[in-house]
Amino acid sequence: MAWPSLALVVLLAVSIFVTDASDPDILTDFIVPPGTNTSLLNGAFFTYTGFISSNAADPAKFTATKATVVEFPALLGQSVSYAALVFGAGTLNPPHIHPRASELLYVVQGPLMVGLVDEVAGKVYTQTLQTGDMFVFPKGMVHFQYNAGTELARAFSTFGGASPGTVSLPGAIFESGIDDNVLQKSFHVDQATVETLKHDLAPAVPVAPPPSTAAPGLSTRSAALAVLVGFGAAFWL
Ligand SMILES: *[C@@H]1O[C@H](CO)[C@@H](O)[C@H](O)[C@H]1NC(C)=O
Repeated sequence: MAWPSLALVVLLAVSIFVTDASDPDILTDFIVPPGTNTSLLNGAFFTYTGFISSNAADPAKFTATKATVVEFPALLGQSVSYAALVFGAGTLNPPHIHPRASELLYVVQGPLMVGLVDEVAGKVYTQTLQTGDMFVFPKGMVHFQYNAGTELARAFSTFGGASPGTVSLPGAIFESGIDDNVLQKSFHVDQATVETLKHDLAPAVPVAPPPSTAAPGLSTRSAALAVLVGFGAAFWL
């Protein structure tokens, strides 16, 4: 076989086994929603104004304002998205994963504690980030953020995908309808504890506008966090 053909075969073989790290490539510079009259397209299509609502976020809560392809359709196929995060004093973004994108979190108002669970090594990496610090959460790894201070904290997150997805571990485990017996055996707890965890959990990653329901006490969330960081690694695919 001639060298050029061999090289081609090798390249082809490699490309078959390399997984896509982000959105599939698109065949046009950008994609407009079906039925759009492109001659009427203007700058507004490429503009996202939803972060204004994060300025009005309840300072007592955790609020994540997302700009993914759902909220910002111009991102379709662009392999990027964004989120504005506001952490009231003592609030938490509970352990969760983004199955389709890595995340770069940039703290604009610290300090903010972050944690990254390495289930292979069986440990958690934590760091207290100061204003101006940045932290990477690799794609698909369990992580959380916690404002342990008494002042508001703010951060922005960039994602390497237009549709990073969010799987909240408390939500996926305790709010998805998994049978109570399965939960009891999984966590080695009694039914009363399962009930407590199920009923005291608020939506784990609320999107703006924030839900009108009251935020749960931190102690419950901390308990859930402790349980989930300790045992959660075994419970998702
Ligand atoms: C698109 O908008 C332009 C400007 O208003 C108009 O002239 C044209 O007829 C529209 N095209 C379609 C297919 O509606």
